[in-house]
Formats: sequence, C-alpha cells, structure tokens
Amino acid sequence: MEEVISEADRQEEKLQVFPMKMSRINTGKFSILILMAQTLAFICIIFKFHDSPLPPVKKYQRTHMIILSTWRSGSSFTGQLFSQHPDVFYLMEPVWHVWSKMHQNSVNLLHMAARDLVRSVFLCDMSVFEAYLPPEKFSSSFFQWETSRALCSPPVCNLFKRSDIIPQNHCKLLCPKNPFNITEKACKSYSHIVLKEVRFFDLKVLYPLLRDPSLNVKILHLVRDPRGVFHSREKTTSALSFDTKIVLGDIESQNSDADYEMIKQICESQVEMYRTVMTSNFSRLRSHYHMVRYEDIADDPIENARQMYQFANLNFTPKLKTWVHNITHGKGQGMSFVINSRDARNVSRAWRDHLPFKTVYRIQNICKEALKVFGYRTLKTETEQKNLSVNILLPPPKLSTGTNAPLT
Ligand SMILES: *[C@@H]1O[C@H](CO)[C@@H](O)[C@H](O)[C@H]1NC(C)=O
Ligand SMILES: *[C@@H]1O[C@H](CO)[C@@H](O)[C@H](O)[C@H]1NC(C)=O
Ligand SMILES: *[C@@H]1O[C@H](CO)[C@@H](O)[C@H](O)[C@H]1NC(C)=O
Ligand SMILES: *[C@@H]1O[C@H](CO)[C@@H](O)[C@H](O)[C@H]1NC(C)=O
Ligand SMILES: *[C@@H]1O[C@H](CO)[C@@H](O)[C@H](O)[C@H]1NC(C)=O
Repeated sequence: MEEVISEADRQEEKLQVFPMKMSRINTGKFSILILMAQTLAFICIIFKFHDSPLPPVKKYQRTHMIILSTWRSGSSFTGQLFSQHPDVFYLMEPVWHVWSKMHQNSVNLLHMAARDLVRSVFLCDMSVFEAYLPPEKFSSSFFQWETSRALCSPPVCNLFKRSDIIPQNHCKLLCPKNPFNITEKACKSYSHIVLKEVRFFDLKVLYPLLRDPSLNVKILHLVRDPRGVFHSREKTTSALSFDTKIVLGDIESQNSDADYEMIKQICESQVEMYRTVMTSNFSRLRSHYHMVRYEDIADDPIENARQMYQFANLNFTPKLKTWVHNITHGKGQGMSFVINSRDARNVSRAWRDHLPFKTVYRIQNICKEALKVFGYRTLKTETEQKNLSVNILLPPPKLSTGTNAPLT
C-alpha cells in the first residue's frame, strides 16, 4: 500500500479523538464544539493539501531512467534536461557515494553495491544512504545535490516552485540542510526518477533491474567522441584522479600513460555496452534503450531533447523549449548554470583546435572501435583536424532490430 492511504488513516484517527474527549460536556455546547472540530479538521485537511499539493505517484506508474555515460561527455548537461523537468526526481551520480566510501575496491566489486543503490533510489528508499552518509544528514548531503531541481523545490525546499527552472547556485544558497527524510516523500511525488551515472562499465550488471517487476527501467546511453572526452579530461585530471585510481588501480594510475589507459577503458566499455544491446536477445533491454551522441545534442539541442523526452515519456513544455534554447545559444546571457549558455556546438568541438595531432592520432588507434561503432570520422592529418569544414560526424548508428535470435 502506498503512503497516501496510511497517512489519511492516521489523520482520520486523530480526528476521532476529538468528539470522544467532548462527551462529558452538555449537548448544546457539544454540537457547537463538534461543528468547531469539524471546521478545524476541514482547515487541517485544506492545509495538508496545501502543504503537499501532489500526492505520491503509484509505484507501478513510475518510470525509472538511468542516463549511462562517462566522465566529461556532456552528461551534466543532459542530466539538467531531465532534472529541470517538473515531473522528474533527479539525482546526479549517486553511485559516487559508493565509490568514495569503498574506494579500496575494484570497479567490478563496486558494481554490485552500485546496482543495489540505484535500485533503492528508484524505489525512493533512501535508507540505503545510511551506509554511505553520516548519521546527521540533510537533503544537501547528496553528491552535487544542488543539480537536482527536485531537492530545490517543494516538499524539500519551499522557496521555489516545482515548475521553476532553478539555477544550481541559487538552490545551493537557499535550500541547504533540509531534513533528509523529506527526500523520500519528494521522490514518491514524482512520476519519473532519473539518475545520471558514469560509474557503470558493464551493462549486464543492470539486467536484474530491467527484469524487476517493481521497476520500469529505461536506459539512456550518452556517448561522446573519445577525442573530445580526452581533451576535456585533460583539463580536469586532478578532479578525476580519485576515480582513475579505482578504475586503473593505485600503481597504474601513477603511470605517465594513465590518461591513455583510462580512455582505453572508457572506449572499450562504451562499445561493449552498445554491442551488448545490439546483439542481445533480451527484448526488454532493446526496447528500453536509447543511444544518443553528445555532438548531436550540441548540434540540435531542441530536436534531441524532444527525442530524449519522448523516450522517457515526458512532455516537452514550451517553457523547457525556451530554456533549452537559452542555455545552448546564449552568449554570456546570464543563465547562471555551471553548464551555462556557452555555444554548445563550439564547446563540443574545442578539442579540434587544442589537441596536438599526435595525441589525436594515438587516441584514434586506442579507440578505433568506438569511432567506428558510434560514427566518428578518423582524421588523417593535422590540416584535416584544424579545418572545421571537415565534418567528422558520420550518421549515427541505428539499433539493429533485425536479428534472428529469439526474443525474451
Ligand atoms: C523527519 O525527521 C524529523 C526529525 O529530523 C522528524 O521530526 C519528522 O517527524 C520526520 N518526518 C518523517 C515523515 O519521518
Ligand atoms: C530565455 O531567455 C530570455 C532572454 O534572456 C529570458 O527573458 C527568458 O526568461 C528565458 N527563458 C527561460 C525559460 O529560461
Ligand atoms: C564559435 O566558433 C566560431 C568559429 O570558430 C566563432 O566564430 C564563434 O565566435 C564561436 N562562438 C562562441 C560563442 O564562442
Ligand atoms: C577544408 O575542408 C573543406 C571540405 O573538405 C575543403 O573544401 C576546403 O578546401 C578545406 N580548406 C582548407 C583550407 O584546406
Ligand atoms: C539468449 O541468448 C543466450 C546466449 O546467446 C542463450 O543462452 C539464451 O537461451 C537466449 N535466450 C532465449 C530466451 O532465447
């Protein structure tokens, strides 16, 4: 049974206490008191509804989406497209908590705890964070909590409306330290739970979630040109070093080639995840999977947002449309996002101006499969690299649905 009902039951019990206490008072006054009590109850109920205008959404009516990506692939931006949607409860990389708490373990070992955490959050069961957060915790204890519009609006924070587009620096300033237990109630009041994750290297780990009858899981797989990923990672090496250590191990991560080793792991796992879907006879996986390239989003944010919302079964409201346009086309037009209104297309291509060709060449060799599978052209010369009229974006791969394998 859902909480609405038990809450209502409790409310009813409370109301019945009133007339019983009144029974010693004489009948004339009694009926006035009854009337007053009823009025009071009515006001209480009005207030209650005013407090939480949206009752919990039934479990089986919820959609659970995971945005699977890797570091520096435009996943924060894509995450925001969902987080700012008024029907979405979003968390950015909750598995970060698992990795930071158990950093002495390997990726494979951590996969299982990560999956368990994702499943719990999908079910709005935040008790899983008892293991990862200190006893005194708040709505702002989640990793990068301010990127979640849901943690910045009612019932968590009443300073904004649920339908507002909420810049994360405003939220961070105005909405910290709300009670942790409200986040569960908040989660249950949304039809869509969306999590962005960069710490899964194997899609099969998620199979049990797809099979789970209490979940309706969709996988949005976001990929990016590995040359762009590499360039962007170079600028944030120290911030990523903690994760690099877990992926490569202590010793390997100290190696001078660690950056290349990392991009190798990333390329291989991204290709493997895509291939897993392509060759799978698990029909639920195939029908609940959508692949998107960051460069396509940057080239045509509105159209790609439309497709992603459609996949997630969300409305693309006029307000969101304007906002998506604003944040991808603005020139210093102060939308105060960390992912702000830079020209999205330029950002996605910056590596072509900045990476030395010999680096590009080396990455192309390491990530040959990824370039081929995801449709990125291999560059042959530095001249080609620097000439932005040379289009490197080939048509995106299509999910092949014509295999003869039996479907499950
Ligand atoms: C949430 O926790 C606070 C104390 O931090 C408590 O007063 C409140 O009753 C709790 N609410 C729910 C819904 O559990
Ligand atoms: C988009 O930008 C315009 C012009 O700066 C602004 O007036 C409008 O409020 C913005 N809309 C959204 C939804 O961000
Ligand atoms: C984007 O790149 C083009 C060509 O390199 C340049 O002319 C334009 O000013 C850039 N726009 C922004 C917002 O950086
Ligand atoms: C850049 O590439 C375009 C398209 O391939 C080509 O037509 C053009 O001549 C190139 N420009 C230079 C300076 O090489
Ligand atoms: C799906 O494929 C795997 C291996 O290719 C096979 O073991 C399994 O039986 C297949 N499932 C169904 C239902 O055909």
